[in-house]
Amino acid sequence: MTSSVENMESETSNQPVVRSVAYQSNHGAGQVEDYQVIQAIRRGETPNPTVHPEVLEAESVIDIEGFNLWYTETQAIHNVSMKVPRGAVTALIGPSGCGKSTLLRSINRMNDLVEGVRVEGSICLNDSPIYAPSVDVISLRKRLGMVFQKPNPFPMSIFENVVYPLRIDGEKRKSVLEEACEKSLRAAAIWDEVKDRLKKSALGLSGGQQQRICIARAIVADPEVLLLDEPCSALDPVATLKIEELISQISERYTVLIVTHNMQQAARVSDYTSFMYLGRIVEYGPTAKLFQTPSLIETEHYVSGRFG
Ligand SMILES: Nc1ncnc2c1ncn2[C@@H]1O[C@H](COP(=O)(O)OP(=O)(O)OP(=O)(O)O)[C@@H](O)[C@H]1O
Ligand SMILES: [Mg+2]
Repeated sequence: MTSSVENMESETSNQPVVRSVAYQSNHGAGQVEDYQVIQAIRRGETPNPTVHPEVLEAESVIDIEGFNLWYTETQAIHNVSMKVPRGAVTALIGPSGCGKSTLLRSINRMNDLVEGVRVEGSICLNDSPIYAPSVDVISLRKRLGMVFQKPNPFPMSIFENVVYPLRIDGEKRKSVLEEACEKSLRAAAIWDEVKDRLKKSALGLSGGQQQRICIARAIVADPEVLLLDEPCSALDPVATLKIEELISQISERYTVLIVTHNMQQAARVSDYTSFMYLGRIVEYGPTAKLFQTPSLIETEHYVSGRFG
């Protein structure tokens, strides 16, 4: 059915703007008033998320249960429960400020470094609670490779960048380091481009190449999960495509959790998608379902760019 949504101004930059647009809807004549879940969240409520059975049936590697996070007084994550399926790519989507990076950083306990952060609830990695007092955070982070929005190679050679996690682990054997470096650079689809200049500075590479070096560094110690926070947002379309191909390839070996603002990218690279809004999960399920036949009108409008 063809319909239109009225313009609705957002009160803060965190809230979506609904654009006036004609569209084909799965949900009939969608109006702003139909955004029941989003409206409830804006009132400060935390409605139960719509979770498709497929994600509950899949074997999970990360299990988030009733997780809440506060930055001093401000709550940024509200009662999030989410199972991340093993050996698949899961995308976190949602408007700016909805807590995607916060949730990602909670999984490798990087938020511990932020003053005033308080958490409640649990996150398990392969059934072990990561916030348990006995957890060694350094060892935990080795099990979770992370790549950020902006490529962050260290000011050292390509080789030393890639093997850095092994060096800080005390590995000194040249043959082991060389083998691991080549394996990771091949897995990160950049070996052929850099194999003749491994001793040169990583800072001399293009942005897309630097990002693939950062991915190689993130996987060199064989993590169980790869956390990617908008890894392509600083890259051009060609470099973006390379990273996307790489994500598809490495997802055969690693579980990948990726934050992206690019809906086409989420649709292309992920098997599952979780749509977040103001620190809550709204709808979570197989990517094909979320993009083609979502349960909620809000999800349908968000993934097709009608609000957000
Ligand atoms: N270090 C911090 N101290 C205080 N508040 C923070 C901090 N980091 C994030 N926040 C707040 O927590 C909320 C969630 O932020 P977060 O960066 O996780 O959102 P996001 O979904 O990743 O946004 P974007 O898409 O813009 O990257 C926002 O309201 C943000 O202002
Ligand atoms: Mg972010």
